[in-house]
Amino acid sequence: MLKIGIVGTGWFSGVHGKILSTMEGVQIKAVLGTTKQKADEFAYEFDHAKGYGNFVEMLDCEKLDAVYICVPPFAHGELELQLIERGIPFLVEKPLSVDLEVPKQVISKLQRNPLITSVGYHFRYRDSVKFLKNELENSTLGMVTGGWMGSMPTVSWWRNQETSGGQFVEQTTHLVDLLRYSAGEVEEVYAVFGSRSLHKTYDFVTVPDIGTVTLKMKSGVIANLSNTCILPDGDSKVGLDYYSDKGILHINHDRLEKSIGGLKSVHQDTVDPYLLENEAFLHAVRTGDSSRVLSNYYDAFRTQEVAVAALKSAESGEPVKINL
Ligand SMILES: NC(=O)c1ccc[n+]([C@@H]2O[C@H](COP(=O)([O-])OP(=O)(O)OC[C@H]3O[C@@H](n4cnc5c(N)ncnc54)[C@H](O)[C@@H]3O)[C@@H](O)[C@H]2O)c1
Repeated sequence: MLKIGIVGTGWFSGVHGKILSTMEGVQIKAVLGTTKQKADEFAYEFDHAKGYGNFVEMLDCEKLDAVYICVPPFAHGELELQLIERGIPFLVEKPLSVDLEVPKQVISKLQRNPLITSVGYHFRYRDSVKFLKNELENSTLGMVTGGWMGSMPTVSWWRNQETSGGQFVEQTTHLVDLLRYSAGEVEEVYAVFGSRSLHKTYDFVTVPDIGTVTLKMKSGVIANLSNTCILPDGDSKVGLDYYSDKGILHINHDRLEKSIGGLKSVHQDTVDPYLLENEAFLHAVRTGDSSRVLSNYYDAFRTQEVAVAALKSAESGEPVKINL
């Protein structure tokens, strides 16, 4: 029986908790909240789980096989470092942090103490992404454009640049990661961000609400990822368009649409990528074989580097090169 700990008692802890509770040979044993009371309330939903308000106490009291970290971007650091110190594999939700400071510390500790890690870039587990990659292998890709256009999530940490890192780091990171996974490494970024409306409508908004980032890829491909969180609830447009010598591929939240030489077809996602992500991680924890984990901490660090480079570029007004 794999004994699992969950850190965080919010929305995404719930999503992972539900999946874990349907899996054979897996028990959620411990939950960490910002207070013991919040942790107890969350843990109550799961048969064998106990709530904790202190991470060290949780790790001292339970013999955990793996821990899920589902906290906002600003709250990373000590959690990962403690787990590496104790040799406990972890799945951490994206993004790795608000910037590169904590991820660099984590990487440096991981290099000294290798450990199974997984990062929640779930797009990689979608079957439409598998089709997308196959199509791209047989074509010459020219450009990729797209973006994450939506409304502002209501949790308070999201609207604060210091606690979320802003939309590009927090949300559009999924598309940065998909771009890297499907079209290779990014060499340079140039970003323009702006604030049009949300800071006038809501209190304490310090994140930009519009932005566009041009990315030069190592292969010579040029990409552009834009984002806004200005839209009213109910309106959203999320996805990427790939333009190649074979035609157009459009991927959105649940399917891949192809137009190859004018012939149109659709691949609808059929499997739950979050389930596959969880299965791959727990398989690695059980067997030591992490070949099914499609995003580990090292790879996710590269995605974080690109997103943070965009922040730096928007601040300085200059293109920023990525160290490859
Ligand atoms: N992969 C995905 O598709 C996906 C989807 C949604 C959210 N996420 C990511 O999951 C993370 C959490 O998002 P959420 O929607 O669950 O947010 P949320 O605000 O609903 O929950 C965050 C939880 O973390 C807790 N927390 C904060 N600091 C903590 C600490 N030091 N120790 C313990 N608990 C702490 C908060 O009390 C809260 O319960 C974010 O990074 C987000 O980007 C990923």
